[in-house]
Amino acid sequence: MSKFDPKHAEILDSKDRDADDILRLLELGEEDIVLDLGTGTGFLTLPLLDIVRKVYAVDVQEEMLDRLREKCDTCENVDILLNEEGHIPVPSGAVDKAFLVNVLHEIDDRGTFDELYRVMKQEGEVCVVDWDKDVEGDGGPPDHERLTLDGAIEMMNEHGFTVFKTGKTKTHFHACFRKDAPV
Ligand SMILES: C[S@@+](CC[C@H](N)C(=O)[O-])C[C@H]1O[C@@H](n2cnc3c(N)ncnc32)[C@H](O)[C@@H]1O
Repeated sequence: MSKFDPKHAEILDSKDRDADDILRLLELGEEDIVLDLGTGTGFLTLPLLDIVRKVYAVDVQEEMLDRLREKCDTCENVDILLNEEGHIPVPSGAVDKAFLVNVLHEIDDRGTFDELYRVMKQEGEVCVVDWDKDVEGDGGPPDHERLTLDGAIEMMNEHGFTVFKTGKTKTHFHACFRKDAPV
């Protein structure tokens, strides 16, 4: 899968995007520890910092994280962390809620989802939002890189998460999952 090109990073900060619509998908509490996996320029991380106790803002591209750092030099409740494919540099069982926004289609190493399972608290919740493979010609990533909503649910099921809420917009699907008990 191709990674988002940092040259186009300003698209991620477009005024047309509404982070609140995504944040509302999970019930966030002020004591929550949240993972924003594939944070990019911090589209979701920045508003999260005003709502929750701490955010782990994680991305595989240092250039994206540098852009977030520029916006965040006085933020105290964020850990901005570079990861490698297949690894999430966060302690086991540390995370109450996680968001993966427009990143699922870029993840190459399925070990990333085992890592997601490892870092989530028991019953922790994960919200996945991504370009819908069932929609064509909407300007997002190429078809062969995308997943359908059903494909995303199947993949998360295989890694120990059960879906509890789904929906679609014109271009995207979302699905919210809860971490299953270990088998
Ligand atoms: C399209 S951007 C979306 C950024 C942000 N979530 C947003 O909605 O604005 C996808 C981001 O995911 C990152 N990414 C891709 N694969 C990743 C992985 N395995 N782990 C962490 N980040 C990843 C890319 O570097 C890129 O910054």
